Amino acid sequence: ESAEGKNEAKNYNEVMSTLPKVKSLNGYDYYLYQGFWYAPFFLEGLMSVQEHFNPQSTDIFVASFPKTGTTWLKALTFAILTRSRLSGSTTSALLSKLPHDCVPFLEYDLAQNPSNRDLAIPLVSTHVPYSCLPKSIISASCKIIYICRDAKDAFVSLWYFLAKQRRSENVEPLPLEKSFELFCNGIANYGPYWDHLLGYWRASLEFPEKILFLTYEEMKKDTAAHVKKLAEFMGCSFTLEEEEGGEVQMIISLCSFEKLSNLEVNKNGKHRPDTSIAIQNSIYFRKGEIGDWANHLTPEMGARLDDIMDQKLKGSGLKL
Ligand code: A3P
Repeated sequence: ESAEGKNEAKNYNEVMSTLPKVKSLNGYDYYLYQGFWYAPFFLEGLMSVQEHFNPQSTDIFVASFPKTGTTWLKALTFAILTRSRLSGSTTSALLSKLPHDCVPFLEYDLAQNPSNRDLAIPLVSTHVPYSCLPKSIISASCKIIYICRDAKDAFVSLWYFLAKQRRSENVEPLPLEKSFELFCNGIANYGPYWDHLLGYWRASLEFPEKILFLTYEEMKKDTAAHVKKLAEFMGCSFTLEEEEGGEVQMIISLCSFEKLSNLEVNKNGKHRPDTSIAIQNSIYFRKGEIGDWANHLTPEMGARLDDIMDQKLKGSGLKL
């Protein structure tokens, strides 16, 4: 590591030591920075990209709150953008790599090294809230695709993700009720959930040609229409020949939960092996359904989170 890199890390640590912190869903401290809670690791990455990151003006950002459909959206956007390179789905990188290894992550991969990417594939992912994005992304007028999801399903998905991650580290998961309480108080990595949604929602109303706002539920209901919409938004609409040749369906099948979750790499592979945040690829695939929250939360818990969301989103025009 360079001397400059070390000094920078020291500065970020100094900034972090001045921030409010709280024990969060996974038992670690999360820090409150510019209105959102962050795990220290990603906060350091965020501070670094806020200072240094420079996008290509053609870059398209895939943005989301964790557990709202990021893996699926990454797979779809990657498959759509790289389709001219496909000669049949058998050659897609998605068959041998986790979608998260196909699309670099801003506040980790690119924070560590800006060249951790294939510049010919202008896709970058991030969980950073809109108001905290590096200013360079906004001034370069990069396109952004945001996905979100019913808060109850997002919470349940998050709890299972963290519980599995903790079990693989031999640490007991936090009880569901305690985690739920924290989530309802806005405390989660990149939370509050509602503020994350509202930031991108309002920006999508202001700059509709730059920001595409999607929901997991709508995408599930009519995936074909959304795949076409994504292609159009990214500037690579399907040609009539492609549509007639079944290209849209081929991409949907390639990126489906069934297909991806059953691939050898996603069953047995590891994401970022040999790092402190190594994780089994299989943890990114659980059920992939709408409404599974009802199997894990009581109706009272569901109603409470619905009330919170209704209150927070009131007047915004956003309905989930
Ligand atoms: P569940 O835990 O409800 O099953 P993220 O990708 O943002 O981490 O979100 C994870 C959620 O997306 C999980 O939801 C996961 O099962 C689901 N998921 C993963 N891959 C998917 C795919 N190809 N299609 C639909 N859902 C998918």
